[in-house]
Amino acid sequence: MNRRKFLTLIGGGTILAAGTAFGGFAATRTPSKALQPWHDAGSAYSEPRRKALSYAILAPNPHNRQPWKIDLSQPDTIKIFVDTDRMLPATDPFNRQITIGFGCFLEVLRIAAAQDGYAVSEQLFPQGVDEKNLDDRPIAILKFSKDDAVKKDPLFAHILNRRSTKQPFDLNRRVPKGDLDALRSTVSDKANTGATNDPDRVKQLRSLTSAALLLEIETPRTYRESVELFRIGKAEIETNPDGISFSGPLFESLALLGVFTKEAAIDPTSSGYKQGITAELANTNSAMGYVWITSKTNTRKDQINAGRDYVRMNLVSTGQGLSIHPLSQALQEYPEMDDHFKTIHKMLAPNGGTIQMFARLGYGQDKGPKPRWGLTTKIL
Ligand SMILES: Cc1cc2nc3c(=O)[nH]c(=O)nc-3n(C[C@H](O)[C@H](O)[C@H](O)COP(=O)(O)O)c2cc1C
Repeated sequence: MNRRKFLTLIGGGTILAAGTAFGGFAATRTPSKALQPWHDAGSAYSEPRRKALSYAILAPNPHNRQPWKIDLSQPDTIKIFVDTDRMLPATDPFNRQITIGFGCFLEVLRIAAAQDGYAVSEQLFPQGVDEKNLDDRPIAILKFSKDDAVKKDPLFAHILNRRSTKQPFDLNRRVPKGDLDALRSTVSDKANTGATNDPDRVKQLRSLTSAALLLEIETPRTYRESVELFRIGKAEIETNPDGISFSGPLFESLALLGVFTKEAAIDPTSSGYKQGITAELANTNSAMGYVWITSKTNTRKDQINAGRDYVRMNLVSTGQGLSIHPLSQALQEYPEMDDHFKTIHKMLAPNGGTIQMFARLGYGQDKGPKPRWGLTTKIL
């Protein structure tokens, strides 16, 4: 949610006045510690693995859970594990999305290592993997080696400016077909992607994604999973620089006034809850195009691969000045979502397979980077 949406949500004037009164104070309330990893990337570390990792932790990942655990105890080696306390059991029961997030992480890591002339060889799931639930076995073991032949990847240039843009998009700006083609060409197998800016298709998909979003919000246990990850105001964000963060002077003032709380957000009788839905629908209903990534089978390696492809698309779109925002609700594998899951697969993967990522495209305001845990907190 942004400032404008929130003003609508709690009813303009009074709060605007309160916001102004608190303005001088609130302006000093940027969660700078939580944003420090964006400044540290590349500059705070000289050891090659740490330097590449300082970029990898900025990768997109579901609900910004950042479920990485990193073992650097062996020279030139990175062992990556999942923090099983950072999963999303209600909306991601088989950890499919969490695994995609690791794919994003690994691809950013590879791009950053290549920038410094390091090749990364990778063994995925060296001790096997459970296809239903991730466990304590390593996700990957990586070996770093200096290699003068390694090619720099031009997408490196966009890592620090990459965002998931959770804002309404400009309804008057169409997404050029050439940009859709460029997004699709960056992935490993073009057969696994699709994209559209066709107005009829966009209309159908707006309606499907809005319905899926509503279902997630109206299903108490799935909505609660999100609300429990709300971080409202500087103090909460600095303490837990992850999840769904609400920062900036207005949210900070509202938090101080006790107006915006997790309790209010989850109460379906409150006007905040209802207007919050309206605000979220402004995002789904302003999609100007879509892109998606499918896989024929749905193995852990397919999911890692989809993450690699998705973050490449996200970096390409950053270079294009095009906003991208994943909308995963209809892809989620819990029983209540079944109808929407089937509908989106019928529409976008009529020959079978799994849609791993689906995102809306358009032009929205960049609200800056999202918080991150510092790299050292992730090293075992
Ligand atoms: C597998 C996956 C699924 C995601 N699904 C959603 C989603 O349904 N809705 C959403 O707003 N963001 C979604 N995101 C984006 C994350 O919320 C975002 O990456 C995270 O909050 C960090 O923000 P950043 O990408 O701007 O750094 C998804 C990201 C990944 C990798």
